[in-house]
Amino acid sequence: MAPKHFLDLDRLDGQTLQQILALGADYKRGEWPTGPHPLAGKTLAMIFEKPSTRTRVSFEVGMLQLGGHAIILSNSDSQLGRGETIADTARVLSRYADAIMIRTNKPEKLLELARHASVPVINGLTDASHPCQVMADIMTFQERRGPLEGRVVAWTGDGNNVACSWIQATVHFGFEMRLACPPELAPPAAVLAWARDNGGRVSVTTNPVEAVRGADAVITDTWVSMGQTDKGRHALLAPYQVNDALMGQAHPEAVFMHCLPAHRGEEVTDSVMDGPQSVVWDEAENRLHAQKGILTWCMS
Ligand code: CP
Ligand code: NVA
Repeated sequence: MAPKHFLDLDRLDGQTLQQILALGADYKRGEWPTGPHPLAGKTLAMIFEKPSTRTRVSFEVGMLQLGGHAIILSNSDSQLGRGETIADTARVLSRYADAIMIRTNKPEKLLELARHASVPVINGLTDASHPCQVMADIMTFQERRGPLEGRVVAWTGDGNNVACSWIQATVHFGFEMRLACPPELAPPAAVLAWARDNGGRVSVTTNPVEAVRGADAVITDTWVSMGQTDKGRHALLAPYQVNDALMGQAHPEAVFMHCLPAHRGEEVTDSVMDGPQSVVWDEAENRLHAQKGILTWCMS
């Protein structure tokens, strides 16, 4: 049987994603529909080619709570850093571990790993997407505001990897997404086209007020992602900051979301980050619960 990879939201169906989130929510409530320790004796190998706090800790703690174990490899302390190929690494890790998570730059590396692994591969972020993050974000929205279906989600700032996974999610969860981005930093046309071709409702504007007006969630992310240099980004993105004035344009019960780490005073002000509409700490916590759902789905 082919491994159950968790690569990107455009490669999975909505029913599977809902099932994974429901399982994660069961775990969060302390329920074990799969029996306690469903991953007893199983090992997750995690490759980090970029830094991480939340992804690393939530996957490691998640594996422990599911009865399994996690091993961390970085470029500098594994043979990947000395030129062993992704394909050979995939073949070898598949002989030891029951699943592999990778955080890397190029999405092609994730796909190559999946092509050569005989165990499930999980995308822990690439330059192009961050699907585990968006699963946790959806769980968080639904806890606070109920089903996403029919709601409006606003994204303001860089049309980056996290934005792309949110755009893909429109196809599966029936919400409208309005992005406000500088033209130079708009999401890739192919991602928008895939979502629209598959029934997603996505619009892109350069006006943050237009995107945020009446929205049920307001989301942003860092102006400079890992591996990027500033190259005028701060100047381009300054008008897209989420502050009290912009938040005031959203629905009165709108939530503010950010995958973290945040750059306070840049993409978001302290007043919004620490304000009553912010759900950023729940988002961070839900990485753990949503990923426990993903890990169980992949390995069972
Ligand atoms: N949000 C997120 O993925 O955080 P880390 O980079 O700390 O893993
Ligand atoms: N867009 C950010 C997300 C970090 C979790 C980055 O890629 O650095």
